[in-house]
Amino acid sequence: MDLKSLRVNGKRLQGSLEEMAKIGATPSGGVQRLALSEEDKRARDLFVMWLKELDLGIIIDDMGNIFGTRPGRDKSLSAVMSGSHMDSQPKGGRFDGILGVMGTLEALRSLHENNIETERPIIIVNWTNEEGSRFAPAMVGSGVWTGNLDRGWACDRLDINGNRFEDELIRISYKGSLPAGKWPVHAYYEYHIEQGPVLEKEGKRIGAPKGIFALQWYDVYLEGEANQVGPTPMAGRHDALCAAAEMILKINELPQRMGGNMVATVGEIQNYPNSRNIIPDRVHFTVDIRSWDDDHALKAWEMVWRDFDEIATRRGCPIKIEETWRVEHSPFDRKLVHRILNIAEELGYSGLHMVSGAGHDASYMNRICPTAMIFVPSIGGRSHVEVENTKWEDCEAGANVLLHAILQSANEK
Ligand code: GLV
Ligand code: MN
Ligand code: MN
Repeated sequence: MDLKSLRVNGKRLQGSLEEMAKIGATPSGGVQRLALSEEDKRARDLFVMWLKELDLGIIIDDMGNIFGTRPGRDKSLSAVMSGSHMDSQPKGGRFDGILGVMGTLEALRSLHENNIETERPIIIVNWTNEEGSRFAPAMVGSGVWTGNLDRGWACDRLDINGNRFEDELIRISYKGSLPAGKWPVHAYYEYHIEQGPVLEKEGKRIGAPKGIFALQWYDVYLEGEANQVGPTPMAGRHDALCAAAEMILKINELPQRMGGNMVATVGEIQNYPNSRNIIPDRVHFTVDIRSWDDDHALKAWEMVWRDFDEIATRRGCPIKIEETWRVEHSPFDRKLVHRILNIAEELGYSGLHMVSGAGHDASYMNRICPTAMIFVPSIGGRSHVEVENTKWEDCEAGANVLLHAILQSANEK
């Protein structure tokens, strides 16, 4: 068969995505499939069943990462790996992560039904807990696998209800026996929705990011003094929530103060005791800072940290700050990035060289092997929300680019 004319089955890809979207479906058309939840387990069970149908060699490691290997002709050659994640945000979308896993599965199904052999093995992967929404930080499965996060630390992470990561992994029966640890990979591809507005605005179909922003996550804990809101005068209060409010606005203003290409967000907050007639005495909130420029992001944090200190002192609210996670910016392999753009052109799809503000497992994989990503447009630039959407024909186009990128890498000697 002429490999150049090979294409994925767009309808079958749509079918797999629709089947997966039923697991954890939310009333407004999204999915909620938090890491290591019952829904995550059901998605994993279905995924493993589909891998078995292709006779892939299945490995589940002790972080719950799932790998399916399709052998190559030459057993001495390292594999090409492709995949993403199946966990979602709370009230998340039907495409984030799952598109990269189902897109890879579709590429493998196309090779399988056409009896196409490759020189190198091809491995499909589902990484555990990419989102970091239930258990912070994000990209935990790939982080431990690549040696960038400590296994014990990851296993001890707690969700908001005090459930331990490792206990939950055991509960859903996805703690494998093989210790998570890297093996040689020839190339890693991750196919994903863009999650932003650029491709749609530019009228392009395929994005080839040059890399991923640096990400910094912090957890801020404030203490105040609880009291009855009626009799307690305004002067002399130690209101932890008011201190947090001032700090949150400092974060929101940070990118403008700093200039350059960066974003900063407070997305999560807990206020205690959270009663309308008690002055809050305990607040926890998160900070997320991202930029292509690591130093710029760090300088921004140092600046805002001084503001936090001043606010905490002035309001008499002791502060504790934890740096939960830091990932440096990740410039992808130039050869593979250009391969993505070339394949897009050959297949008749318009392409765009861009950058990823969203975090992906590709960030950690990029540290151990040549890595690139393929983006397709997000309608309205919306993601991490129930209305997250991508046209089916764009899903198919991206999967065709992925198929040919995998094929080219898997036939390299
Ligand atoms: C992951 O989805 C992130 O960008 O935070
Ligand atoms: Mn994702
Ligand atoms: Mn996400």
